Amino acid sequence: MRILLGVGGGIAAYKAAELARALMERGATVETVMTRSAREFIQPLTFASLTGNKVITDLFASGSSDQDTLSSAIEHIRAARDNELLLVAPCTADLLAKFAHGLADDFLSTTYLAFTGKIVLAPAMNVNMWNHAAVQANLATLRARGHIIVEPEAGYLACGMTGPGRLAEPKHIAEVAVRALQQREDLSGETVLISAGPTQEPLDPVRYISNRSSGKMGYALAEAARDRGARVILVSGPVNLTAPAGVEVVRVRTALEMRDAIIGRLPEASIIIKSAAVADYHVAKVPEQKVKKTAAKVSIDLDPTPDILAECGRLKGDRILIGFAAETQNMVAEARRKMEVKNCDMVVGNLVSERGIGFESDNNAVTLVLRSGEVEQVAVAPKREIADRILDQITKLRLAAVQ
Ligand code: C5P
Repeated sequence: MRILLGVGGGIAAYKAAELARALMERGATVETVMTRSAREFIQPLTFASLTGNKVITDLFASGSSDQDTLSSAIEHIRAARDNELLLVAPCTADLLAKFAHGLADDFLSTTYLAFTGKIVLAPAMNVNMWNHAAVQANLATLRARGHIIVEPEAGYLACGMTGPGRLAEPKHIAEVAVRALQQREDLSGETVLISAGPTQEPLDPVRYISNRSSGKMGYALAEAARDRGARVILVSGPVNLTAPAGVEVVRVRTALEMRDAIIGRLPEASIIIKSAAVADYHVAKVPEQKVKKTAAKVSIDLDPTPDILAECGRLKGDRILIGFAAETQNMVAEARRKMEVKNCDMVVGNLVSERGIGFESDNNAVTLVLRSGEVEQVAVAPKREIADRILDQITKLRLAAVQ
């Protein structure tokens, strides 16, 4: 693993030294590029000593007497070619803007443009800067370009303010970078059909029944499957999320629309993941006019919606079918029951009663219940990491099926 570590000029620059060490502990060879302002915070010699490699600075100067710094007019091309991953930490607001807009006025930004490998950016800045629309727009551009952003943590910042902006833990950044490099294209050739989000079941033209699903788990699965080389079709209920670039999105509202979209696209799919929280009941005949308020009690007559997962189970053939089971109790037993009844290969169970995980949250903790009887507990982690653990099991199921 050959990693080019770009160090930006922020107070967190000192943590990049710990990051360099963490990368090397994980078996990477590290070459460092420092911006001019990074050198105001930390000396190149620190990185040269830690990595055993010369440090590239912004000096386009011959005649630099510093033995541990190196640069030349074509050095950025060499650095871009010789490394597999560019990791920038701390990535300042200025660097995010340069990368997003293709400015190339120093060594790191020219290297960025010349770089064709994977890119991981770990921003750190003041909370108001982080929240600024310009910074968020640049981040959206860079995410859409397929770069991995290691989100800053919330906490006490050097400026005395509190909020998101603090560089993520060096060990965590190193883990993300190494995993990005190790990630195989192990789903290439597969078409993954994913359902995500809630459904809305109208009661009349202005009211509906829905649930607390945010769609984040399904969107994380779509992003992870795309990154692993799959073609992805995402059938999404109404959510407030931006679809990952390169993923085909089919937007639906009701359980019936979701059923038609899933069953319609099923022939194309080799893997089906039903992470949507589909409403179990709906009003079969929705009134055409808004229902008027009266003083009387009302009751609503609800019919069951079609069970899409069960229908997929009947139609699946040799496709891999994954269901979800959000439960408030007896999760493993319920997941097993669903797997049998709906003919799934795996059911992802999560207890929704625990605080801070599951619905609406960025984190989740799940139990993977497999047809073989195997049960894997996945501890609390960002939904993107959970998505990769789910896909790891799917690739194992695929291997087992072809053997
Ligand atoms: O039985 P339960 O609804 O709890 O099962 C949840 C699983 O079934 C999820 O994978 C969900 O997407 C799917 N489901 C479905 N159609 C429904 C209800 C749930 O496909 N009408």
